[in-house]
Amino acid sequence: MLGRVASTSLLPPTIRQLLSNTSNSARVQVNGWVKSVRRQKNVTFAVISDGSSAKGIQAVIQNGSLAKVLTNGASVRLGGTLGDSPGKGQDKELRVEEVEVVGECDPAAYPIQKQALPVDYLRDNCHFRARTNTIAEMLRLRATASDALQQFFNSLGFCYVHTPIITSSDCEGAGETFRVAPPEPSEPATHPTENKPSEFFGHPAYLTVSSQLHLEALATALSRVYTISPSFRAERSLTNRHLSEFWMLEAEWSFTQSVNDICAVTEGAIKDVLSKTQPHAQVFAQATGRSRILEHLQTASSTPVWTRLSYGDAVAELAKYHASARKFHFEPAWGKPLQSEHERWLAEELVKGPVFVTDYPVALKPFYMRLNDDGKTVACFDLLVPHLGELVGGSLREERSNLLDKALESHGLDKTQYGWYSELRKYGGAPHGGFGLGFERLISWISGIENVRECIAMPRWAGRMLL
Ligand code: 4AD
Ligand code: MG
Repeated sequence: MLGRVASTSLLPPTIRQLLSNTSNSARVQVNGWVKSVRRQKNVTFAVISDGSSAKGIQAVIQNGSLAKVLTNGASVRLGGTLGDSPGKGQDKELRVEEVEVVGECDPAAYPIQKQALPVDYLRDNCHFRARTNTIAEMLRLRATASDALQQFFNSLGFCYVHTPIITSSDCEGAGETFRVAPPEPSEPATHPTENKPSEFFGHPAYLTVSSQLHLEALATALSRVYTISPSFRAERSLTNRHLSEFWMLEAEWSFTQSVNDICAVTEGAIKDVLSKTQPHAQVFAQATGRSRILEHLQTASSTPVWTRLSYGDAVAELAKYHASARKFHFEPAWGKPLQSEHERWLAEELVKGPVFVTDYPVALKPFYMRLNDDGKTVACFDLLVPHLGELVGGSLREERSNLLDKALESHGLDKTQYGWYSELRKYGGAPHGGFGLGFERLISWISGIENVRECIAMPRWAGRMLL
């Protein structure tokens, strides 16, 4: 019989595991980095973090010569015993008996000093950014959120699939794709096809802007599919909500016929994430002193059903407000896109919480959205949330071949490029739909971090990509 290895024995415990599972007086070893050192006359206190939790562990060193070698940023291995801490701010502390400096760090030259560092400086030093409390906590929040989403969709019988990054089609049809091509050959080609570097696949190739079209293909076999995947957009928006490379949770399922159902699944997924990431939200709120953000999240979690509002009604409300207060830079009118000032007013002022705006005019949305019976609008929604704006976009997909053909034409798209997509309708097509949730925007909303550039480890945006 094969022996079973307890997973906890494969690696030594992290500081988080030590603090939650280990009894006092146990001899332990801690690996981590020195976050701070406070030297007093007879004792030195150091905070050691291995990134497993927001707090780290307080190390207490009585022996002056052992303490001398500890400097901010150094990686260390400490041996000692755990005990109750008499001091404020932590329950347990490590009473240090042995100190080994594994990797030195010159405190004077170290780019990550203890005081708060400007955002731009940290973007320039993005290889060190995860050593700051904020970025490390953001990364832990990402991991918890991604785990929560996977659990949610698995529990509803969805299959987690991996869709391609390199594609031949522009899902959103917005012309914001990055081209993919091998480097130009520096020497004459020995084989005739090598002379065409941009035709590596025989036709132009792009980085995906969304996994949706491929998910639709897989949903015609597996019924319910989802993925968490990077998306790439060559848009030059330098706002605090746009990245050139961002992650999206996308879900797609067959046999659904109402936008309301898609909104309900979206809402369920987000409420679940909010509940599982609450401890992280609390860490951020405490660190920034902005409890207002927690209140918004609490309101969103406890509202039984988030408001649904048609685009037409939303524009009417915006226009009414604009007529009386003239607060908007852009005049709201039916047929025009909602600007971010409009989106925020709807969520923050009118609804005071998340709101699904549904049924936008056909001309404002991509070709794949299902045409409503009025012939003017499509069966779709944008989820708008306070202090962020658009968090999710979703829709029913046009499953009627003739109407899909017309939509491709009216959007000026080349039908031959979407041949395979049309075939999905021809052979066993079923009504279906889904949505895409911007992962960095979700992190921004939960954490209160204002710019999505701080909601991903190594951000890319027009004009900037450091490592
Ligand atoms: O609204 P979008 O463009 O919808 C789609 O791509 C659909 N194909 C998704 C689907 O139905 N499967 O993008 C979805 C979400 C947006 O609501 C936003 O949160 C995020 O992705 N997003 C971005 N996040 C960061 N940087 C960008 N440049 C983003 N563009 C969209
Ligand atoms: Mg959108």
